[in-house]
Amino acid sequence: MSTDDRADRAASFDRAAAVYQATRPSYPEDAVRWSVPREARDVLDLAAGTGKLTERLVALGWHVVAVEPSDGMRAELTAALPEVEAFPGTAEHLPLADASVDAVTIAQAWHWVDPPAASAEIARVLRPGGQVAPIWNVRDQEVDWVARWTEIVHRGDTLETSYRDPELGDRFTEPEHATFRWTQRLRTADLRTLAASRSHLILLPPDERDALLDDIDELVATHPDLRGSEWTEVPYRTECYRARLR
Ligand SMILES: C[S@@+](CC[C@H](N)C(=O)[O-])C[C@H]1O[C@@H](n2cnc3c(N)ncnc32)[C@H](O)[C@@H]1O
Repeated sequence: MSTDDRADRAASFDRAAAVYQATRPSYPEDAVRWSVPREARDVLDLAAGTGKLTERLVALGWHVVAVEPSDGMRAELTAALPEVEAFPGTAEHLPLADASVDAVTIAQAWHWVDPPAASAEIARVLRPGGQVAPIWNVRDQEVDWVARWTEIVHRGDTLETSYRDPELGDRFTEPEHATFRWTQRLRTADLRTLAASRSHLILLPPDERDALLDDIDELVATHPDLRGSEWTEVPYRTECYRARLR
């Protein structure tokens, strides 16, 4: 299977839900508070995955529903957050009533959606004046080992899947943007598992995937900032956008 196909890549997470849940980062509180209006009551976490952002939204006191197309990812979410209603569905076909939520978050996933169809659906389910917030965690490439790790996990990858200005269309106000810097504490050995949770690696033939993971092991064993350390700090920027329904 070609790993260049966007739909296959978007669906790939179903095969790696456990490694995703084990190693992918959460989201810092200040970024989540910036992204969701304080006065909101009902929040949709769209493309919720295993519930990394959902968990933060629940902890901050909002009533949260989740929509996620992958059965495997949704099963992890429900196991971790049994109190959250989690529906199968996509950004382009939301299984929610018109004007039923005050805010929509979509973390690490706007690059997988069809922007016009997703914007129209989000506008439909938002109440008047509601807010949408596309969010991404981006590793800080200025740190040498991070740049090397990233080079390995994107080797041979021709699909652009990083964050970008989200095109939200005419139904929304011009998006505001904010950046939040933080670090994720991770066992150094889990840098291999984190690599295995990337959609490019999930879909590679096993021998090619193993070759890239071997290169990650080599990096961990030899880089002066990683060698011999049980724990490492992965530096992230959380890039947040927010826009109101007109
Ligand atoms: C990188 S994960 C992000 C999961 C979660 N939001 C997080 O921050 O950890 C991307 C998620 O988008 C989902 N996804 C892919 N295409 C989608 C679509 N068209 N609509 C909604 N979700 C989609 C995938 O199943 C996957 O769970």
